Amino acid sequence: MTALDPAADRAQRPPAAERAQRPPAEVRYADELAALAADDGDPRPPGWRLSLRAARRFILGDPAAGIRRKFVGDPSLIDRALVALATSRGLMLVGEPGTAKSLLSELLAAAVSGDSTLTIQGGAATTEDQIRYSWNYALLVADGPTPRALVPAPLLRGMAEGRVVRFEEITRCPLEVQDCLLSPLSDRVLAIPELPGADAMVFAREGFNVIATANTRDRGVNEMSAALKRRFNFETVFPIPDLGTELELVEAEAGELLRRSGVAAPPRRDLLEVLVTTFRELRTGITERGDAMERLSAVMSTAEAVSVAHAVGLRGWFLRGEPGDAADLVACLAGTAAKDDAEDLARLRRYLEQQVPRRSGAQWRAVHDARHLLPG
Ligand SMILES: Nc1ncnc2c1ncn2[C@@H]1O[C@H](COP(=O)(O)OP(=O)(O)O)[C@@H](O)[C@H]1O
Ligand SMILES: [Mg+2]
Repeated sequence: MTALDPAADRAQRPPAAERAQRPPAEVRYADELAALAADDGDPRPPGWRLSLRAARRFILGDPAAGIRRKFVGDPSLIDRALVALATSRGLMLVGEPGTAKSLLSELLAAAVSGDSTLTIQGGAATTEDQIRYSWNYALLVADGPTPRALVPAPLLRGMAEGRVVRFEEITRCPLEVQDCLLSPLSDRVLAIPELPGADAMVFAREGFNVIATANTRDRGVNEMSAALKRRFNFETVFPIPDLGTELELVEAEAGELLRRSGVAAPPRRDLLEVLVTTFRELRTGITERGDAMERLSAVMSTAEAVSVAHAVGLRGWFLRGEPGDAADLVACLAGTAAKDDAEDLARLRRYLEQQVPRRSGAQWRAVHDARHLLPG
């Protein structure tokens, strides 16, 4: 078997994936998926591993059945996304960076197809070969174009196997590359003109569809052609609207990351509350009390809040053997909040000097006292 043989690849995947830093959703939640499939009496769209209702429970959670909540958000968004995937149009998730578009697309693919790894990462250098198929050149030279010499990329595999294909950050690809999705999405067929006879056409099996994601904030990205837009249902993923829900998520996600990093004592909840409040205020430019203030140009997403909470916990534990504290928070904030814009660092300093003292509570005072730790 060659390294490119998809069967060999699949046979090797589970053990390697379990040791991975971040195994794919179908490995992380294999037990939940198996349990949901086992007592899934509801009708399933053709080619789906789960019914829509079971897929919804997988994503939104069902505490009574021991299914964890993985995505926090509007349940009707999940319903619309699942229905879109059962139609003959693709699903396009758009929104600010860090709103869990990629996570949601992974969970949807794991629920519908049992596999979230047929993924194309969009970028300026993405080629059609990486989307559709390429050739094993040694075999191509030896035998000419034959099915054996064909190296399928995610789109071809998804069509041939009847699975969901994920296309991350599609608008970062050149327009003409994006447009190679047109006939797979509208006619559900992929032409391989090099192959003779019946092999020249791959007809999509039931279960195939595409979930694309796109960030609304990326500057200088290519737009999409109107023709391609028509082949997708668009859904916008919004940031988590309320503080309590976002805090709960950040606490749970950072807690899990810290456990896996071997940290025995995570940061206190009241410090995480200060962290999440700070992110929300700097993201929106409105304080929790409703006053206007300066917002940052950097993306202060929930995903960033989770990674700062993780870093705060790591700092406290590995540098001093105690939970991360307010000084760790100030030290970790700068790297997130002031990336490429020097003015952001100044805005963050003004926030620490002017807004933070207006809050009451020991952690807010400690953050204010640690403001000199901001670099620059
Ligand atoms: N609504 C949400 N539900 C669950 N996790 C969220 C949510 N919003 C943000 N997150 C966090 O962000 C991470 C995922 O971000 P990601 O999917 O990469 O975002 P995007 O693709 O939109 O940039 C998750 O692992 C989680 O920690
Ligand atoms: Mg993403």
